[in-house]
Amino acid sequence: MEEVVRPDVDPKRIASVLTELDPDANRPANVIETSGLNLHFGTKSILAGVNMAFARGTITALIGPTGSGKSTFLRTLNRMNDRVSGFRHEGDVLLDGQSIWAPSQDLLAIRRRVGMLFQRPNPFPMSIKDNVVAGVKAHGIAKGKQLDVVAEIRLREVGLWDAVKDRLNESPYRLSGGQQQLLCLARALAVGPEVLLLDEPTSALDPLSTESVEQLMRTLTPALTLIVVTHNLGQARRVSDNTMFFYEGRLVEHGPTSQVFDNARESDTARYVNGLMG
Ligand SMILES: Nc1ncnc2c1ncn2[C@@H]1O[C@H](COP(=O)(O)OP(=O)(O)OP(=O)(O)O)[C@@H](O)[C@H]1O
Ligand SMILES: [Mg+2]
Repeated sequence: MEEVVRPDVDPKRIASVLTELDPDANRPANVIETSGLNLHFGTKSILAGVNMAFARGTITALIGPTGSGKSTFLRTLNRMNDRVSGFRHEGDVLLDGQSIWAPSQDLLAIRRRVGMLFQRPNPFPMSIKDNVVAGVKAHGIAKGKQLDVVAEIRLREVGLWDAVKDRLNESPYRLSGGQQQLLCLARALAVGPEVLLLDEPTSALDPLSTESVEQLMRTLTPALTLIVVTHNLGQARRVSDNTMFFYEGRLVEHGPTSQVFDNARESDTARYVNGLMG
């Protein structure tokens, strides 16, 4: 009898084909989760018991008074605190379901997947173009002529192309503060991160530049997940889907932004979002 050729129905094979067709198919819905996360500097507890899930493709705002641990929390998510003197943690941070501190994790790979934008623009001392492609080169993502294409795509993406296309080989330090921040954003986007951490990204910018960064943030989702620290409550309201409120060493409350701002569960949250605290 002739042998019947059966289609390959190995479930593992099907899963892998589906994953190829849709890279998100088998990924957890939450790109980052923290569980029982305690953060300390030396003997001082900064935050205790933070359990939080960041859904893929959303924008989360981190708000709270100065010193409430927002930056410490944010910087923990891509292990920026690991080498800070006195920093300790308990609990875990999961990236796509895997501990960021697992021995199998490669720190460079984590930083590529979870990028960061700081409060003050920090272009590198190299040309505008080289700034955009610095990470791309370091990670070996592209080379030669491809780098020009990557630079153009990313500069267009952040709306900076027309302003800089004739001075790609010049220093970035003559750009305005807002333009420098957009350049740093282009650099962060160029390596194709999944998550972008932003620590008060517009606090050093004028209102117009702030508006362009905010608009851009919205266009980056749902492809990216953004987590943004801000003292600008209007900004948190405008750009974020979810809000976390930190106060006195804890995550007091988190939820959909409209709920946290208009219908807070905790009185401390209500006082803070209504400008009645400190
Ligand atoms: N490297 C460090 N060593 C020791 N303590 C630190 C260090 N960095 C921050 N802290 C302390 O941790 C606490 C939280 O600081 P953090 O910078 O996370 O607050 P924040 O909410 O970001 O404040 P801000 O709104 O002013 O930026 C503060 O008491 C701060 O003094
Ligand atoms: Mg801070």
